Amino acid sequence: MCAKYLFTFFLLVWITEARDKIFKVTDYGAVGDGNKENTWSDACKWNGSATVLIPKGTFMLKSVVFNGPCHSSMTFQITGGTLDGQGTATRQKCNNDPNCQILFTTMDLDFINNGVIQNLHSVDSKGGHFIVFGSNNMTFTNVTISAPADNRNTDGIKISHTNGVTITDVNIGTGDDCVAMIAGTKNVQISNVFCGPGHGISVGSLGKFDGAEVVEDISVKNCTFNGTLAGVQIKTWAAPLNTTQYASNFFYEDIVMTNVQRPIVIDQFYCPERNCDPKENSQVQISNATYKNIQGSSAGNFAVTFNCSRVNPCQNISVEDINFSSDEKGKQITNFCSQVTGTSSGKQIPSSCLPQHKFVETPFSSQ
Ligand SMILES: *[C@@H]1O[C@H](CO)[C@@H](O)[C@H](O)[C@H]1NC(C)=O
Ligand SMILES: *[C@@H]1O[C@H](CO)[C@@H](O)[C@H](O)[C@H]1NC(C)=O
Ligand SMILES: *[C@@H]1O[C@H](CO)[C@@H](O)[C@H](O)[C@H]1NC(C)=O
Ligand SMILES: *[C@@H]1O[C@H](CO)[C@@H](O)[C@H](O)[C@H]1NC(C)=O
Ligand SMILES: *[C@@H]1O[C@H](CO)[C@@H](O)[C@H](O)[C@H]1NC(C)=O
Ligand SMILES: *[C@@H]1O[C@H](CO)[C@@H](O)[C@H](O)[C@H]1NC(C)=O
Ligand SMILES: *[C@@H]1O[C@H](CO)[C@@H](O)[C@H](O)[C@H]1NC(C)=O
Ligand SMILES: *[C@@H]1O[C@H](CO)[C@@H](O)[C@H](O)[C@H]1NC(C)=O
Ligand SMILES: *[C@@H]1O[C@H](CO)[C@@H](O)[C@H](O)[C@H]1NC(C)=O
Ligand SMILES: *[C@@H]1O[C@H](CO)[C@@H](O)[C@H](O)[C@H]1NC(C)=O
Repeated sequence: MCAKYLFTFFLLVWITEARDKIFKVTDYGAVGDGNKENTWSDACKWNGSATVLIPKGTFMLKSVVFNGPCHSSMTFQITGGTLDGQGTATRQKCNNDPNCQILFTTMDLDFINNGVIQNLHSVDSKGGHFIVFGSNNMTFTNVTISAPADNRNTDGIKISHTNGVTITDVNIGTGDDCVAMIAGTKNVQISNVFCGPGHGISVGSLGKFDGAEVVEDISVKNCTFNGTLAGVQIKTWAAPLNTTQYASNFFYEDIVMTNVQRPIVIDQFYCPERNCDPKENSQVQISNATYKNIQGSSAGNFAVTFNCSRVNPCQNISVEDINFSSDEKGKQITNFCSQVTGTSSGKQIPSSCLPQHKFVETPFSSQ
């Protein structure tokens, strides 16, 4: 029964403040596929404060795109119901239940400014839970995202071509990246996030296609990882491109990891399908990344892996107070550095492959 997957589901997308109107999806005949988009676009055009309301009920999931920019204030609210991402078997069961309605598996948030997604629990999406594209100043807070570890290609929050995202007090367990920041992502603040299972908090996709793409100004603070493939990672493809792309200004601080395969990673030879040419070099220039007070246990051979491009070595990478041991009793782990310049400081367990920071004597000024 659909009721088995009962949970409370709230989502609010605020844009500005004005006249109130509630757009109830059931008034648009939300049973079956389709009509939520009409609800959304009517609400989006409303010149006042609009609330898209999904009342209590039983819903099946499907993809839906929420397209902005909207005329003014927008609240999107789901006030409870059954959301079911379990696929065909339950879809059939749902079809036999007159109260069961198709909702969504993936929430696409496109061209939305100043949106707030909060107090939400998203379960077992089939193709990525939240996809943010072309938006500005989005906030995710008090959100729980859960999907089984074997649910492939289900990023928790995937961001591209977006400036300004805050993700705080969010708990993500999924089969792919907990947070994926891909081409065109700028100004992201991530804090108090738990990730596991999953592939980590990742910067990805740069270096595959031509174009002047960047990812920059990302901070990740006070986060916890348990049982993930990677912890904090930056991965780029090694492909011949006409233009150099950039990934810069990363700040990682106060992070605890347990049983993580590759805790701290820069991998510029990313090639998931194993059909890439190992002789190619990544055309992505990675620079200015600081990793500070990161500790825990590695399930692999390394704590820190910096495997950078031979044509664009990583620059200005700094590690400070890193303490990792192996999950296996008695096993020694090491760090790996290739084509990277930068410095280490504070405690370094295992010992860092970046040279120790030297304090440069500053000229004495008497005035
Ligand atoms: C909202 O206001 C604009 C102009 O400010 C107008 O063109 C549009 O028709 C209005 N939309 C609605 C749904 O009233
Ligand atoms: C967080 O969201 C859940 C629903 O997922 C809600 O029950 C809870 O009250 C929210 N917590 C706060 C502090 O708002
Ligand atoms: C995003 O927030 C910043 C800082 O609060 C503000 O300056 C900017 O105008 C906002 N952008 C949009 C599109 O609302
Ligand atoms: C760190 O995150 C945890 C939950 O993930 C939270 O309880 C704690 O208050 C956070 N600490 C700070 C300093 O924000
Ligand atoms: C590089 O630029 C040339 C000329 O603009 C274009 O024909 C070619 O497709 C580009 N190569 C790639 C890999 O995009
Ligand atoms: C990590 O997850 C495992 C398996 O779910 C659990 O047993 C363990 O207590 C967790 N450890 C920490 C430090 O959270
Ligand atoms: C390096 O990145 C940090 C944020 O991570 C930023 O505050 C700083 O300005 C950057 N430095 C340079 C030289 O761009
Ligand atoms: C670094 O990248 C090279 C080239 O793809 C690969 O052969 C090597 O195994 C990588 N090293 C680590 C430690 O990941
Ligand atoms: C590296 O840092 C130095 C000193 O802060 C700065 O002059 C240089 O521009 C930085 N290089 C890159 C690629 O960020
Ligand atoms: C490193 O971490 C281990 C295990 O968490 C801890 O016992 C040890 O005291 C730490 N070392 C330092 C120098 O902080």
